[in-house]
Amino acid sequence: MCGIVGYVGSKPALPVLLDGLARLEYRGYDSAGVAWLKDGEVQRMRCQGKLVGLRDMVQGGKISDCPIGIGHTRWATHGAPTEENAHPHTDCKGKLVVVHNGIIENYFTLRNQLREEGHTFVSETDTEVLAHLIEKYLENDIVEAVRRCLAEVEGAFAMGVLWKGAPDKLVAARKESPLVLGAGKGENFMASDIPALLPYTREIIFLEDGDLAVLTKDSIEISRIDTGESVEREAKTISWDATAAEKAGYRHFMLKEIYEQPQSVLNTFRGRIIPETGHVDLPEIKLSNEELAKISRIVLLACGTSWHAGLVAKYWIEEWAGIPVEVELASEFRYRRLLVNETVLVVPISQSGETADTLAGLRIARKHGSPVIAICNVVGSTITRESDGTIYTHAGPEIGVASTKAFTSQLTALYILALFLAQTRNTMDPAARAEKIRALSEVPRIIEKRLEEMHQACTELSDEFYQYRDFLYLGRHLHFPIALEGALKLKEISYIHAEGYAAGEMKHGPIALIDRNMPVVALVPRDHVYEKMVSNVEEVRSRRGIIIAVAEDGDNDISRVAQHVIRVPATKDPAIKPFIFTIPLQLIAYEIAFARGCDVDQPRNLAKSVTVE
Ligand code: G6P
Repeated sequence: MCGIVGYVGSKPALPVLLDGLARLEYRGYDSAGVAWLKDGEVQRMRCQGKLVGLRDMVQGGKISDCPIGIGHTRWATHGAPTEENAHPHTDCKGKLVVVHNGIIENYFTLRNQLREEGHTFVSETDTEVLAHLIEKYLENDIVEAVRRCLAEVEGAFAMGVLWKGAPDKLVAARKESPLVLGAGKGENFMASDIPALLPYTREIIFLEDGDLAVLTKDSIEISRIDTGESVEREAKTISWDATAAEKAGYRHFMLKEIYEQPQSVLNTFRGRIIPETGHVDLPEIKLSNEELAKISRIVLLACGTSWHAGLVAKYWIEEWAGIPVEVELASEFRYRRLLVNETVLVVPISQSGETADTLAGLRIARKHGSPVIAICNVVGSTITRESDGTIYTHAGPEIGVASTKAFTSQLTALYILALFLAQTRNTMDPAARAEKIRALSEVPRIIEKRLEEMHQACTELSDEFYQYRDFLYLGRHLHFPIALEGALKLKEISYIHAEGYAAGEMKHGPIALIDRNMPVVALVPRDHVYEKMVSNVEEVRSRRGIIIAVAEDGDNDISRVAQHVIRVPATKDPAIKPFIFTIPLQLIAYEIAFARGCDVDQPRNLAKSVTVE
């Protein structure tokens, strides 16, 4: 989720790059850098931390009037947020520079090959591989060298390249990471996102996956990376204002982030599961198979939404790996007599990596000798630094205070962890494991296909329900924690009282609350407790309750008992249903909060990262 900007024209590039990067800072902000040409040589400045540091270094852009350059603001995926890891990255001789957003899955193999061939690497990033691979193939045609480099690269990229041998040319390419071009008069631009370009041009060309573009000040030529065949991509005129553009046209960051989930789930499992072989690869877990075999128990440690992700994972880990799991609220865990030791694996789950209670719990667990493997979204955050290993969620920066895409990315990472443990401990038939992996690999496509339709249904529902004051969310098994998460989303952003409950517990209390004033959101996936769930729904109905069922396509029985049904795509494998059922719950909360005029992205009294107790 880094930000990229490139400029070629007649005016000084640096102010344009800095300004564009400032408009992209919401995409990542742990370090930034720019590169340009001076007297025929590549110049580069990079700085750890926010953009203001870089701005000071290049004196607000006054140190060069060179009319070509590239810039980058980073959200770390490989390697800590340091100056060495900041982009642009360069080849051995400093002839070319590369900025990149995405993940190069085979960077480890490529880096080893290139090292053997004599290339020297100075950063821990996957991006540096691109610079050296281009260098390897570069004779006198930068476009051809980029093409040959990309033929060897697996993964996702949006990239910009500047070479001193072609001082009037920028090369851009994309696959599965966003990159747009801006067409100006006597100047052209590239950027990872439209807001960077709006002050300069509203004529935007959206590159497609597999496109490569060559920009000079007077021309933009686009071709396919693999065949070299020229393609036409028409510019579209963008009418958004700058604020709307930052949110890619969505009303709020939260909505944008809900829509980003197919991509963030994909980014989280990319390179870690191999659907063809049914294999899971998690080198981040720096524990040997013997150490893993000794684990007697797992403690998942988290707060808020991250805790809900842990609750879902308990079912997966216990079912597949046969290891007992406790899911602990970090604020409770830290003040108890703890019965953990070196045989108990502790897994802190945190979007920010800075939550005070989770961090405190982790420190205590380490004192007891427990190995600690974190699940986290922010590279280099305190929790990752203090853990033995980290499985990063690769969701990109989450700006809306209410967590959405970070949650489904945490689910993804935990699902993979559960399968990894099953694989190393040999507790699951390989064919069954392969089936789970295949099912996960389909999740992004399944969600993407139906997101808009689900959104439409949730919007219609919110018109009818936004004035209610209390909601009950019910679910069973994997969908009990999803009910908790649905209720939390609603209360966080709409300030409506909402409770999540295990449906089987309804008779022990909440059933007394049921009346015409408290809608019941019932999660009714087709799984082994479906019939039980339908019975619970019947019980609500017979007490004249209002039922909003979230149910799968083709489930006609549910329409006979529930007054309202939100349809989600049916899936064969029950294990992946929580990913899908989460989406409408996020959308219901979002639309109800919007209808009530609430500040969706920054709800009152809440903080994105709770760094105090
Ligand atoms: C805050 C946020 C929640 C988040 C929780 C835990 O309450 O508003 O969205 O789930 O902290 O944060 P973490 O960064 O540790 O996941």
